[in-house]
Amino acid sequence: MNILILGGGGREHALAWAIAQNPKCDQLFCAPGNAGIAQVADCVDMNPEDGDAVVEFCADESISFVVVGPEAPLVAGIADTLRSAGILTFGPSAAAAQLEASKNFTKEICDACGADTAAYAYFTDIHAAKEYVREQGAPIVIKADGLAAGKGVVVAMDIKTALDALDDMFGGAFGAGGGAEVVIEEFMEGEEASFFVLSDGVNVLPIGTAQDHKRAFDGDKGPNTGGMGAYSPPPVMTDEITQKALDETIKPTIAEMARRGTPFQGVLFAGFMIKDGRPRLVEYNVRFGDPESQVIMMRLGAQVLDALLACAEGTLDEARINWAEDHAICVVYAADGYPGSYEKGTEIDGLEGLDDNPKLQVLHAGTKIENGKILATGGRVLGITARGDSLKQAHDCAYAAIEKINWPEGFYRKDIGWRAL
Ligand code: AMP
Ligand code: GLY
Repeated sequence: MNILILGGGGREHALAWAIAQNPKCDQLFCAPGNAGIAQVADCVDMNPEDGDAVVEFCADESISFVVVGPEAPLVAGIADTLRSAGILTFGPSAAAAQLEASKNFTKEICDACGADTAAYAYFTDIHAAKEYVREQGAPIVIKADGLAAGKGVVVAMDIKTALDALDDMFGGAFGAGGGAEVVIEEFMEGEEASFFVLSDGVNVLPIGTAQDHKRAFDGDKGPNTGGMGAYSPPPVMTDEITQKALDETIKPTIAEMARRGTPFQGVLFAGFMIKDGRPRLVEYNVRFGDPESQVIMMRLGAQVLDALLACAEGTLDEARINWAEDHAICVVYAADGYPGSYEKGTEIDGLEGLDDNPKLQVLHAGTKIENGKILATGGRVLGITARGDSLKQAHDCAYAAIEKINWPEGFYRKDIGWRAL
């Protein structure tokens, strides 16, 4: 079959790398893709949010399966558009994508199905919100509702920070979509980890756990980023915790979405805060994580396509994952200055031959190729991803490779996986 992936980051390179290995995949396209994806797929200059263009492309190229990477096209309804056009699609409807787009929606779902998560209150009025903060005290968590690309959350350790965050959010700091509506949450202590589960709307299939590193610098210092690295599996996600998360939060959520007539079909990426044997939901995303998907895909390999197809076809109850007792790690190589401003167009050298090792993949997040040269085009640029029998083995393999890359304008963390090593 011919397959189209929408998106062009490290997540989509990881998906493309895994899908291209499956014999069911004849021709693979990716829109817009990047220089790394171009090694395994035909990159198409097309906006993933332009439903008409995507449907037309699918007809022209006889595409029989579309995998949607990022959240923005999902929230904009690309999966609805494609399914209405009769195209098999992996990814939730706009209605089900509310699990990521609206924090208040997710909280309502959690209330309705009894999922374990932080206590909360929802405000559209700044005075009432400030009153609530003063009543509750700090630490407390302030969240702008809507897609704020991870920037709409302030974990306030004191009242002043919380009140300032409310001033910012009601002042429109996060745009029209976020800010006029705010969720205020109980602060949860513990260790965070992510859990990835596929659902066809009814059935669920766990496909792995991971932990990312959000701060820019070693020792979890510096500003928050989209993720500077990840590893799988994290020891904190024991079988018992994983089962608890599945039984007490994820399955009830999927059932509640179906009950409301908006079944969730796609990957549910759940962030949990774990303490004293209790996993509590921090948030849902309706897509794979980046860089979490790099380590998940590295471990799953070609079988991921069968699982995604089963998900889209509604036959997930028959799907199986064959687990290897392996470990994976991804070290992100980012442009100096990221997550602030950074230079674009700098040259990256020394990538040739690194992927000859079957346990190592250099997954591209923000690159382009120009006159045969690989140029950096984004903040997070490469994800050096390795697999091994132990995390230490995977770690050593990834770091040995990254040291061979010549990119003076980039930086990476030296301590990815430290909690588990
Ligand atoms: P979110 O966008 O909801 O995932 O929030 C971003 C980050 O803020 C999370 O990954 C957590 O580190 C932190 N966070 C969010 N909600 C809470 C909470 N209720 N308690 C403690 N930390 C939180
Ligand atoms: N690494 C976090 C995310 O993909 O949202």
